[in-house]
Amino acid sequence: MNQTQLTVPLLDLKMQYEQLRSEVEPMLREICDSQYFVLGPKVVELESEIASYIGTSRAVGCASGSDALLLALMALDVKAGDEVICPSYTFFATGGAIHRLGAIPIWADIDPVTYNMTPESVHEAAGKCLKLKAIMPVHLYGQTVDMDGMVEVGNSLGVPIIEDAAQAIGAKDATGAMAGSRGTIGCFSFYPTKNLGGFGDGGMVTTNDEALADRMAKLRVHGGERRYYHSEVGVNSRLDALQAGVLLIKLRYLESWHAARAKNASIYNEIFASAGDIGLVAPEEPAAPARHIWNQYILRVQGGRRDALREHLSQNDIGTDIYYPVPLHQQECFARIKGDALPNTELAALETVALPIFPELESQQVEYVANTIVDFLT
Ligand SMILES: Cc1ncc(COP(=O)(O)O)c(C=O)c1O
Repeated sequence: MNQTQLTVPLLDLKMQYEQLRSEVEPMLREICDSQYFVLGPKVVELESEIASYIGTSRAVGCASGSDALLLALMALDVKAGDEVICPSYTFFATGGAIHRLGAIPIWADIDPVTYNMTPESVHEAAGKCLKLKAIMPVHLYGQTVDMDGMVEVGNSLGVPIIEDAAQAIGAKDATGAMAGSRGTIGCFSFYPTKNLGGFGDGGMVTTNDEALADRMAKLRVHGGERRYYHSEVGVNSRLDALQAGVLLIKLRYLESWHAARAKNASIYNEIFASAGDIGLVAPEEPAAPARHIWNQYILRVQGGRRDALREHLSQNDIGTDIYYPVPLHQQECFARIKGDALPNTELAALETVALPIFPELESQQVEYVANTIVDFLT
């Protein structure tokens, strides 16, 4: 098919900023005028809005999604030698947070279509554990894990669930419940590339457990209940007012951005479905009330052609990336952690590619990307 050449970056945050500039800049000036930068009223307001968006009684802001995971593990008393089941096919922070506390990540394999850890793989991994303390499923790319199954397996093993919802703010499970609302603690990232991204790092934990929320709020300020009095050793992980101010403005647009991403995903899926069998596996769009928020659109390219396709897309001014080329169990720093082979994880790392999906894309650009892929593989 002959088509006009377009340029399609993987992500363009400047387009979103242009839409928000007139709202954001006065707010930034207001915070600069106040010189109140760390925690404070804007953070409290954001915590309350995020808790009500997610559907939990509490939310506690912190410095990043990585710290959200760390605070959750600390609040649940995960200590050296404890085991925590998590996927290997995820961003580094998931396993890194567990390891930083001296605990051991026990890798569970993923489903080949959703790329998420499954209740079955958790059950299998638990069979090898001697000191299992928690389960940390990741709602990868913006789609929830099977939360019914995960809650059931957590209950049967008698351990809490820490949801790594860093990529999944607004994603809904099969019951329509938000990611981060059904586990013992939910963990979110406001890294700029997320559907709700700040102007720097930021994170949040959500929970319905008041005591855990209070403990995490204390742990984020060095374990001090009041200034200079410390009942335990925490970390410095405070959310700042500038981030909270930006996120409060952006939160009002979040649902419309989810919808725009979903529209882009349907355009891809329609074009890939009508191409027939050309060695592609497109992601599934879950049926309502479940909801994918498409933080990433991940395509599987079979037959060893993924890297050649990427090269071809790059020559056609189309940005792509690979999440994640090296699963955690194959990272040098985790080489000493023993575990079984993870065939679905290893294949996903070899075959998947992320395509542009951000909300400001024009339909024409999405069609251009999809058609360029189909032309190359046909
Ligand atoms: C699955 C997952 N977990 C944790 C994190 C860590 O979040 P942050 O980058 O805000 O520390 C990320 C961020 O990319 C992530 O994608």
